[in-house]
Parts: sequence; C-alpha cells; structure tokens
Amino acid sequence: IKINIIDRDGVSHEVLAPTDMAMNLMEVVRSYELAPEGTIGVCGGMAMCASCQCYVLSETELPEMSDDEEAMLSEAFNVKENSRLGCQIQMTPEMNGLEVELAPES
Ligand code: FES
Repeated sequence: IKINIIDRDGVSHEVLAPTDMAMNLMEVVRSYELAPEGTIGVCGGMAMCASCQCYVLSETELPEMSDDEEAMLSEAFNVKENSRLGCQIQMTPEMNGLEVELAPES
C-alpha cells in the first residue's frame, strides 16, 4: 500500500508499506529512515515510550486503541486528538492512502 508520512522537518514522503509482513507503522518509518535512529521506536514497539507517536491526518479507519496505547498516550507530550502510537498500528490493505505526521521528539 502507499502511505504518506510527514517527517519531523515537515517533509512529506510517499512510501510503499508491505501488508504481509506484520509490519507496524513505526517499523515502516524506521525502514525508510524517516526519523533518526534512537528517536523512534525506543521501547521496541511495546507501547511504553511514545517515541513513535504520530498524528493521523487522513480519514483512514484504524484499529481501536488498546488500553496500553491509551495509557501511554495519556502520559505522553504533544498529544493531540488524532494522536496514535505508530507501533500499535499494523499495516493492512485497508490503510492504503493513510497519511500521518510524526509527532515532535520529546
Ligand atoms: Fe515505544 Fe511505540 S515504539 S510506544
């Protein structure tokens, strides 16, 4: 699928994300090196660091937040109404056209 990721410098990147590899959004960002190593995915995708926080800009339907994701976001910085943790969003075919912006590093 094609998704659009706006990096922390405001630059937009259209990237291809596989949906058959159980890859999450944080891993997609890392695989394209859209955020420096060590500033995203710090907890390894356990919903425990919020370094993968992003703002969802498209109307794309996403899976419901788990309690862990909700709890982490309630403690994170720069949280907005459209905040999600990238590591909790596994890429599926329905997400074609997803657009997200990476939250600032905190
Ligand atoms: Fe730590 Fe997503 S990588 S919360």
